[in-house]
Amino acid sequence: MPHAQSRYVCQSCGASVLRWEGQCRACGAWNSLVETVVRETPRSRHQALPPAGANAPVPLSQAGEADAIRTPVGIGELDRVLGGGLVAGSVVLLGGEPGIGKSTLLLQAAAGLAARTSVLYATGEESPGQVQLRARRLGLASGRVGDAIRVAAETGLGRILDLARAERPGLLVVDSVQTVGSEELDGAPGSVGQVREVALRMMELAKGDGVPVILVGHVTKDGTLAGPKTLEHLVDVVLSVEGDRSGALRLLRAAKNRFGSTEEVGVFEMGERGLVEVPDPARAFLGEHDGPAPGSVPAPVLEGTRPILVEVQALVAPTGAPAPRRTASGVDPNRLALLVAVLGRRAGIGLSGHDVYANLAGGLSVDEPGLDLPLALALASSFRDRPLVTGTVAIGEVGLLGELRAVSGLERRLRESVRLGFTRAVVPRAAGRAMPRVDGLDVVAVGSLAEAIRAAVSEAPEAGARGR
Ligand code: TYD
Ligand code: MG
Repeated sequence: MPHAQSRYVCQSCGASVLRWEGQCRACGAWNSLVETVVRETPRSRHQALPPAGANAPVPLSQAGEADAIRTPVGIGELDRVLGGGLVAGSVVLLGGEPGIGKSTLLLQAAAGLAARTSVLYATGEESPGQVQLRARRLGLASGRVGDAIRVAAETGLGRILDLARAERPGLLVVDSVQTVGSEELDGAPGSVGQVREVALRMMELAKGDGVPVILVGHVTKDGTLAGPKTLEHLVDVVLSVEGDRSGALRLLRAAKNRFGSTEEVGVFEMGERGLVEVPDPARAFLGEHDGPAPGSVPAPVLEGTRPILVEVQALVAPTGAPAPRRTASGVDPNRLALLVAVLGRRAGIGLSGHDVYANLAGGLSVDEPGLDLPLALALASSFRDRPLVTGTVAIGEVGLLGELRAVSGLERRLRESVRLGFTRAVVPRAAGRAMPRVDGLDVVAVGSLAEAIRAAVSEAPEAGARGR
């Protein structure tokens, strides 16, 4: 095979040079040069295109008909997030921290597909023996499934592509994109240039030969897919596995999906035999203790379209240090700092002499404005050492003046709260709009944070313990 040339291409202006330099000479951008394969023969590009006629214009009214052939993987929560199954010719990027369960999920998905089609599992992370060990643990190593999944310990991009074109599997898994490298580039596997080249060639394979591809991508501590942010817009679907590695719950989210909604989430539990779908995800992230405890507030948040009850926990403790601590996990630290300030100025709860810790039970991480009110109530409840009135949930955004703002999908959130046994909800009063009526739920509409604290936090410990 003739060696294609590699060039260093500036990501901001497109200038290309032969050697890496720290600064682009053309536009002056720093660290913008990425090693890229330059293909001289336009023919090889041509081969990747669909046959002539395939791209002929069709009337919009019939445009969907030849669309997306989906193969359900057989794991309900995964199919749901994919939008109904794996689409022929699609490239999916599955991201997540090391050890979170990506390989486990993909082996299970491969097994689900194995009844209908073959799977090529290219692994640069583990030996075939290690993959088999995991498969055995999952009870998937033998029989039909064991034969239909073929494992290749391979890190050469060209060889993986050759294998895939020769075997034409129903699914190609590449675990992980950071361990695979093109022979045509000098950069080490995992470098931006390499990772992007892998993704580009996989797109060609998927679109040209109709083989769906799932790429595993490790995510660094700060939450970005290591190196290749560029990868996200190349592929069709970006999924991520989230959760607390020391806990069992895992959340599968779609950050992007060309064939479906990004509103769906899947909830799994990591057990002795791999990832198991959680039968009642709305309940999964609620903390486990009997009755209300000071500093704990259940909140009906929306993950996409799905209401999930989470438990917001806060601990407020007097400090001797001149600069008190504000520690947040699973919630936005900036919102925490802001709520501490609003509580001090608008609700008479001064925390400047206190350390403040806040987190969500179950290792969940939620970024929605509606979490403000439950978080503020958790702080107030811990500060006063009084639990919430029994059976109460809270949701709402808090403004700088201590005023409350409405959240979307309130009725759905409240229905889910009732279903899970809650009897009372403290929510923002929406001007000019009727409050949703939900059977069995006492909806308390309040206008300010101070009012919400009066309505939600019980006055005396006995009152809280005995309920209403
Ligand atoms: P893995 O899928 O290897 O993670 P990743 O590919 O994202 O790096 O998962 C590794 C973790 O999952 C490891 O800590 C062991 C645990 N695990 C279970 O708890 N149960 C199981 O059945 C399996 C296969 C793994
Ligand atoms: Mg792995």
